[in-house]
Amino acid sequence: MAVLVGPDEANLSGHFAIKRHGVLYSWGPAMTNQPDTMSLERAVYGRRSVRTYAPGRIDDDVLSFLLDAAVQAPTAIHQEPWRFVIVQSEHRLKQLSERAKELFAPEVERLHHAHGQAGDNPFAQPEFDVFYGAGTLIVICAPSAAPFAEADCWLAAQNLMLTAYAMGLGTCVIGSAAQALNEPSFKDSLGIPTEYTAIAPLIVGFPKGETAPQTRHRPAILSRW
Ligand SMILES: Cc1cc2nc3c(=O)[nH]c(=O)nc-3n(C[C@H](O)[C@H](O)[C@H](O)COP(=O)(O)O)c2cc1C
Repeated sequence: MAVLVGPDEANLSGHFAIKRHGVLYSWGPAMTNQPDTMSLERAVYGRRSVRTYAPGRIDDDVLSFLLDAAVQAPTAIHQEPWRFVIVQSEHRLKQLSERAKELFAPEVERLHHAHGQAGDNPFAQPEFDVFYGAGTLIVICAPSAAPFAEADCWLAAQNLMLTAYAMGLGTCVIGSAAQALNEPSFKDSLGIPTEYTAIAPLIVGFPKGETAPQTRHRPAILSRW
């Protein structure tokens, strides 16, 4: 069993305890002193996109635990097309964030315009970090030609995010980084083969403060026969 101590800055009250494939795998702030996994229902309803992070990176045992959960996802024709790129270098995260902002700011302008909104465009602000200061970016990639590979990667992403939440970690999909990640220069420097596409970029880190609850519309049933 690996015991991992979170950073003091994150004010994490507990530690993570990991036992792979077993019942018991973590104690985190969300489930202090409960020697069992969070219920699936609690994770599904409680997970929120976290956009404020304390300093610190998840360590390799936690990372490998999350990736292991990710690859339990359903996969079309049992292809398991997912491959993972892990970015924890502050320099690379900064480079990626800057390029993502350049590429995505006009898209946000366009969307604001289309919806008649005149709001701020965070992507145009020099200090904005598309990764919100999270210590780890996980990019789920797949061969561009693989059938249903996008679906596989997103299903893996959700497994990863729910598992991270159950461990007291924060996550957020960063779709705004996808275009930059798929530029030949970034693919080359990050080791993503040309025939692969970066599909699901996710940040993972230690949440700082509370994340506001979100609501959803009631499920809309189009028809029933
Ligand atoms: C495909 C996709 C791309 C997203 N891209 C971003 C992004 O670039 N930046 C961001 O802050 N959140 C991003 N999100 C998170 C959504 O904004 C978030 O899921 C939504 O507001 C609902 O909030 P919740 O995740 O807390 O339930 C993305 C989500 C998805 C599914």
